[in-house]
Amino acid sequence: MSAPLASLDGRVIAVAGAAGNLGPTVVRRLAAAGAVLSLAGRRASELEELAAELGGGHDTAAVDLLDEPATRAWADGLVARHGRVDGLVHLVGGWRGGTAIEDAGLEDWDWLQALLVRTLQHTTRAFLPHLLASGHGRVVAIAAAQAQAPTHPNASYAAAKAAADAWVLALADRFRGSRSTANLVVVGAIVTPAMRAAEPQRDFSTFTPAEEIAEAVAFLASDAASSMNGQRVTLRGAA
Ligand SMILES: NC(=O)c1ccc[n+]([C@@H]2O[C@H](COP(=O)([O-])OP(=O)(O)OC[C@H]3O[C@@H](n4cnc5c(N)ncnc54)[C@H](OP(=O)(O)O)[C@@H]3O)[C@@H](O)[C@H]2O)c1
Repeated sequence: MSAPLASLDGRVIAVAGAAGNLGPTVVRRLAAAGAVLSLAGRRASELEELAAELGGGHDTAAVDLLDEPATRAWADGLVARHGRVDGLVHLVGGWRGGTAIEDAGLEDWDWLQALLVRTLQHTTRAFLPHLLASGHGRVVAIAAAQAQAPTHPNASYAAAKAAADAWVLALADRFRGSRSTANLVVVGAIVTPAMRAAEPQRDFSTFTPAEEIAEAVAFLASDAASSMNGQRVTLRGAA
């Protein structure tokens, strides 16, 4: 017998970076729990394909989250359509690195901080007033184990993820005393169903399964986690 789903019935949840590696597993899980989703990224076709798979009621937003006015328009448009937004799940990711710390080009840092920090800043600031108004606003972001245990060829990546973590924890402080929360799911290298299907013989046992991340995100977005704020939920592969 499968475990009962943490209910997200009718909750309006915005997912930033929805059609990436992790996104499809997370959005399928949130939709299965009853959430109404708005899927954002830059490439409309992938988002539309995913929304079509989920069935009716969900929408997509082709938006560059480095564009702050466009990000605010996404948030405000959702409120105009649904009357509220209850959650923001930030899944925008990417990686550069692999070069010794003394040789790595600092343009990697510029790219990573924009991708991993600036998109988080834009989305959280755009959704913050709506999440406070919801009565059960939720922010969930994915943290990397590298942020707390950096290796030097990952210096820029680890520093950008650490900055993103600090931003989410500061947001949790902003939510203190409200009925909104902000939390982190800490992961290692992620293995997705698509990766397993592409390499069925490969041993992914040290990776963090996308399905477990999706469970943690659904839990943190639900009322079951209403007393958790500013927490790091650390999964296998990150510990
Ligand atoms: N994958 C891993 O092994 C791993 C490990 C540790 C932590 N994480 C974290 O887990 C989360 C999800 O990772 P992931 O691998 O699924 O990420 P990803 O696939 O690299 O990125 C997710 C999506 O973000 C979108 N995106 C990038 N820049 C954007 C922008 N300016 N505006 C709008 N959308 C943008 C991309 O869609 P478009 O191209 O359509 O814009 C992409 O599909 C991230 O927070 C990541 O840091 C991942």
